[in-house]
Amino acid sequence: MADIASIRSEFPLLTSRTIEGAPLVYLDSGNTSQKPRRVIDAMSFMETSYAPINRSSYRLAGEATEAYEAGRTAIARLINARSSDEIVFTKNASESMNLIAMSWGRANLGAGDVVVLTAMEHHANIVPWQMLAQERGIEIRWIGLTDDGQLDLANLDELLDGAKVLSFTAMSNVLGTIPPTKLLCEAAHAVGALAVVDACQFVPHNVTDVQDWNADLVAFSSHKMCGPSGIGMLWGKMEILEAMPPFMGGGNMIDTVTFEGFTTAPVPAKFEPGTPPIVEAVGLAAAVEFLEDIGLDKIRQHEMSLTRYALDTLNGRFGDDITIYGPDNVEIRGGVFSFAFRDLHPHDISQVLDEKNVCVRAGHHCAKPLMQTLGVNATTRASIYLYNDESDIDALADGLDGASDIFGF
Ligand SMILES: Cc1ncc(COP(=O)(O)O)c(C=O)c1O
Repeated sequence: MADIASIRSEFPLLTSRTIEGAPLVYLDSGNTSQKPRRVIDAMSFMETSYAPINRSSYRLAGEATEAYEAGRTAIARLINARSSDEIVFTKNASESMNLIAMSWGRANLGAGDVVVLTAMEHHANIVPWQMLAQERGIEIRWIGLTDDGQLDLANLDELLDGAKVLSFTAMSNVLGTIPPTKLLCEAAHAVGALAVVDACQFVPHNVTDVQDWNADLVAFSSHKMCGPSGIGMLWGKMEILEAMPPFMGGGNMIDTVTFEGFTTAPVPAKFEPGTPPIVEAVGLAAAVEFLEDIGLDKIRQHEMSLTRYALDTLNGRFGDDITIYGPDNVEIRGGVFSFAFRDLHPHDISQVLDEKNVCVRAGHHCAKPLMQTLGVNATTRASIYLYNDESDIDALADGLDGASDIFGF
């Protein structure tokens, strides 16, 4: 992988936001990532080629449509989809998950049907199913966790017995855990259930192959992978997307409309009512090219070694004063470190770190059932990406020492 200093120099914000000479230490990429110059520049396509897509026959509109569709092609390539038509653009991963629950779920689930989730899910993969449970009386079952923050698969067969859906994260946004996605998709299919993957934290950091997973529907977001906010993705097997009813109605998603009713456009337009995130799709294509140029395999390698460094540094320096949740084995975890530190409240830690220009997240991380499982209300979470290096982890550790001094520990 190219050296981190040179990768970092491509991110204007990372190099410009100093506080009293202290460089920005951005450790909140699990929340949202920073953007390279290439993405920012691509979005200035508004100066040259912006126009409506799909609706107008003039040249400029044709150019804008092509640029928008190039975003779809880039995403299909990134995750090894069979065709770019299998990529639906949404607003974010949350909308993609809602689309799945409200479209596939409403069409296929009724009272007593079972959806299996895991105790490490983000609210985006919990609440839409709970909404459906309230509406339809479906049953939700939960895969629990082992002590080191992996999925406890000991009673998987029992939990999946009679299930219609297994929906799970490919990487936990709190624990960093990377569950065995392929195995879980296989287990779902063995009982005839739909395999849904929340790949929001996985895609930005790993080589993703949805065909190898043999998943059915996969949700993820642009803003966590160096692309702009405002655009998310739903990938699905074409036959599954084709059988799903539309989620929202309006322009663009129809074939025809009469006084009596409507027929739908083919996938993916069927799920993209109204004017889509045109500029965002252009920025996203640039983000995908940026990640591909560096190499997702190299990004994963870099993050594995930085994760090892972070776990060793924090545990080595603070011993029993720090509890880092999730597995210690970097083969099965990503660079997300949620921790408890010396009885300090996560919000206090985050505020003191901010004084040192170190950005981390404090709170429940949209995973309240997981917080309940861990027996805490909140954690502090540091999360890395391709632009972080050992100096960022050192700054975090120094900042934690400083926080102890301030609060008298
Ligand atoms: C695992 C996971 N799923 C879903 C989401 C929701 O993503 P978005 O904010 O793009 O809707 C997040 C965001 O933090 C996440 O980490």
